[in-house]
Amino acid sequence: MNDIGRLAFIGGGNMAAALINGLAARGLPGARIVVADPSRSQLDLLVRDHGVMAAADNEAAVADADVVVLAVKPQQLRAVALALAPRLALSKPLVVSVAAGIPHAALARWFGAHVPVVRTMPNRPAFNGCGATGLYAPPGVGAAHRARAQAIMAAVGATVWVEHESQMDTVTALSGSGPAYFFLFMEALEAAAHARGLPLEIARKLTLETAFGAAQMARDSVESLRTLREQVTSKGGTTAAALEVLDAAGLRAIVAHAVAAADRRSAELAAEYGTP
Ligand SMILES: NC(=O)c1ccc[n+]([C@@H]2O[C@H](COP(=O)([O-])OP(=O)(O)OC[C@H]3O[C@@H](n4cnc5c(N)ncnc54)[C@H](OP(=O)(O)O)[C@@H]3O)[C@@H](O)[C@H]2O)c1
Repeated sequence: MNDIGRLAFIGGGNMAAALINGLAARGLPGARIVVADPSRSQLDLLVRDHGVMAAADNEAAVADADVVVLAVKPQQLRAVALALAPRLALSKPLVVSVAAGIPHAALARWFGAHVPVVRTMPNRPAFNGCGATGLYAPPGVGAAHRARAQAIMAAVGATVWVEHESQMDTVTALSGSGPAYFFLFMEALEAAAHARGLPLEIARKLTLETAFGAAQMARDSVESLRTLREQVTSKGGTTAAALEVLDAAGLRAIVAHAVAAADRRSAELAAEYGTP
């Protein structure tokens, strides 16, 4: 945590709070974090819980920052970036954006090409410390900057780099939107078991623990998901009977269509947000 330097958060909402929480848990002193947010009560909470410093405004927040984390809503980012650009052009801190759908090219245009920018896409489980974040930076952003950005995002879960920015749309369609897909599947399982007579609380508990157990098992294993599935499916057994129904209904094709739709929508939003 020591080589992260001094951090400025522009926006002190939910994602900023999750990151600050994770960084504090990993030993980053609150005194190294400055936060700017229009809401005084939001700032007071972060000061109380983590001992961060509250800035009078965005300019004051970035004054001594080594890293500036942009944690405002995507639609607020352009105005925030253009207002900070003259100052950051002088100090050239690393800029880390967590804003969904804002393309790197737009950030580079707003801040100027000489400010190093890493674009990241975290997901909602980051609020619980078990997120999954995709990161992208063009080749000009050096290893030390990349390592810093990754260390910050690793405070709220797993991190992966993608080589091409277009892959951020697929990251958005997979880990960004993914929690909802799993909720839908769990919802359907819970309802199916309840409809067959299990009390709702029992159906819910077994659904959640099964999802958690399967994810944990897969995470602990070096085997492919296919092998794991085959290992838990006996020929002629109950699991095989259910999987046959899912296969016959075209589950894989449905999932592929769904992910493609999210991927396309992410690209459309990026084009919308990224216009000058
Ligand atoms: N939430 C998620 O699951 C998730 C997942 C992936 C990525 N992200 C990204 O994370 C970013 C933050 O999302 P969030 O969920 O944390 O939103 P949020 O809770 O609304 O936080 C944004 C904060 O920025 C403040 N703000 C507004 N204008 C500002 C300005 N000019 N200068 C400084 N601060 C300003 C807002 O204050 P007011 O409320 O007073 O306007 C709010 O406290 C977004 O870009 C989003 O795309 C979020």
